[in-house]
Amino acid sequence: MLKSHSCGELRKKHVGANVDLAGWVDRRRDHGRLIFIDLRDRGGIVQVVFNPEVSKSCHEIASEMRSEYVVRVSGEVAPRPPGTENPKLPTGDVEVIIDNTEILNTSKTPPFYINEDTEVEESLRLKYRYLDLRRARMKRNLLLRHQIVKFMRDFLDAQGFIEVETPILIKSTPEGARDYLVPSRLYPGKFYALPQSPQQLKQLLMVAGVEKYFQIAKCFRDEDTRADRQPEFTQLDLEMSFIEEEDILNLLEGLFASMVETVKPEMRMIKPFPRLTYAEAMEHYGTDKPDLRFGMEIRDLSDIVAQSDFSIFRSAIAEGGKVKGICAPGCASYTRHQLDELNKLVQNLGAKGLVTIILGTSGGSINDLTLEMVKSVATKFITLDHIKQMAECLGANMGDLLLIIAGKPKIVDMVLDELRREMGHRLKLADPNVLAFAFIVDFPLLARNEEMGQWESMHHPFTAPRDEDVSLLDVAPEKVRGKHYDMVCNGCEIAGGSIRIHTSHLQRKIFKLLGYNDDEIEERFGHLLEAFDYGAPPHGGVAPGIDRIVMLMAGEETIREVIAFPKTQSATDLTVNAPSSVAEEQLAELHLLLREES
Ligand code: AMO
Repeated sequence: MLKSHSCGELRKKHVGANVDLAGWVDRRRDHGRLIFIDLRDRGGIVQVVFNPEVSKSCHEIASEMRSEYVVRVSGEVAPRPPGTENPKLPTGDVEVIIDNTEILNTSKTPPFYINEDTEVEESLRLKYRYLDLRRARMKRNLLLRHQIVKFMRDFLDAQGFIEVETPILIKSTPEGARDYLVPSRLYPGKFYALPQSPQQLKQLLMVAGVEKYFQIAKCFRDEDTRADRQPEFTQLDLEMSFIEEEDILNLLEGLFASMVETVKPEMRMIKPFPRLTYAEAMEHYGTDKPDLRFGMEIRDLSDIVAQSDFSIFRSAIAEGGKVKGICAPGCASYTRHQLDELNKLVQNLGAKGLVTIILGTSGGSINDLTLEMVKSVATKFITLDHIKQMAECLGANMGDLLLIIAGKPKIVDMVLDELRREMGHRLKLADPNVLAFAFIVDFPLLARNEEMGQWESMHHPFTAPRDEDVSLLDVAPEKVRGKHYDMVCNGCEIAGGSIRIHTSHLQRKIFKLLGYNDDEIEERFGHLLEAFDYGAPPHGGVAPGIDRIVMLMAGEETIREVIAFPKTQSATDLTVNAPSSVAEEQLAELHLLLREES
């Protein structure tokens, strides 16, 4: 080893010790007679001092050193002279007096500061990701990710799970996204698909008798990238035999609660993790991934306003729609401009408009509200009594602002979900130190795709229907509930899973309901159906997205910040320049001919 210690570990107790260090020049200060260098390695930073009276040659070498040079130094740890200690640095009580040094490599001037947490354009950071990863924030995120994954492995190992790797070159498995395809050289015209998840393979491992499986699994989905979505991401994929939904939820709660307590003890959770049915989540939050760090629940106001003279409300309800709203506390002071902004936001999301009701100024009880105190277009058409009823339903006080949307239920829910997130953000209601985990249960098994006119799985086609609902599959598929559960946290879907179908006849029935014909079922899923006929045990599982949980625990806004080499928003890798063209010969070997794009 070129080093005896890491830079960040030196303390007063090391005074008098001779140490060998190696790392990067974080900062260099030339005080003429003395040269000070902040030497940085993964463990931290320590000040090293070059004094010509200790070593003239070392001092000469140090005068050549520049930021990001890689250097090796040796010397004695000394206390810093009184008054020069740096309390901001864990090593700030000491410095190392250098008597031997060597420049191991030079460095060009980096395109951005490594030693300062300044804003740098993301494309530049991604191009020079190896430099970006040297910065403190990214180093912290990489370390946190390591600790989280290690905790997961140790926890599951202690519970009797074994880690099994599954192949990356497989056959298409439906998770609702487009596949990444890999052309086969040996079989012209045939393709492997990269796994959207190891779903079918982990089920085959259950048939194989593995009973408790997990894997830190890479998944690939060719879908539009978002803040919490990457084409290539990592799941903690797990599956168990002979279990029920309750077992998986308990396992997840145990794993996540103890992980946070161990890795990020300063973060708080709501315990036990709340459980909401899908219907409750949709009703009160307009989404199946609510942020439970704050209330501001959505309420249905349709019954209150159904008989009002307000045509916007009445016609929405008459057309089978809903009138729903939220209460933004203390926002009665919102200006015309701020209200217009909110109106634009909801229109961009597809709502016809936003009805705003300002409930007087602050203070006082809603009972004392008069029509003169209310600011809203609705006052022309809605009685004071109706306004008070809506305020009461939304738990509003004087000084609050009601935000109301009327329209088709799907749009109303989606828009109010966004509006609630936006207001929660503006009013700083979501505590960044809280991880509000919750389970969403009792999902419908199927959803109707109105455009295609067919049923789609809410989760995936391997999810079992509730036993008591199986008979409804033939008569009322929309009423069938699935044994499907999600785990959410702070408005983000963290995990999805289900108890699976384990008999071939039920699995075949579901495939048929989803519109596959016999040939397609055989071609795409024949292997799984056959396996089920060889004694498949009842089984189920779940897959938490690792990138998302690390993002939330790191307090980052996107998963790109917690992935060493992420793709850009437009799915490119700027560090290695992928995707890229390939040689004609490679295409020929793969039996591929490129078509000119018009
Ligand atoms: P699902 O598709 O719900 O389930 O995915 C599980 C979890 O994976 C994460 N995730 C993603 N993270 C980043 N980028 C993406 N593009 C992305 N897509 C999904 C989310 C999500 O909750 N095979 C099933 C699991 C099972 O049934 O056991 C599956 O993959 O955190």
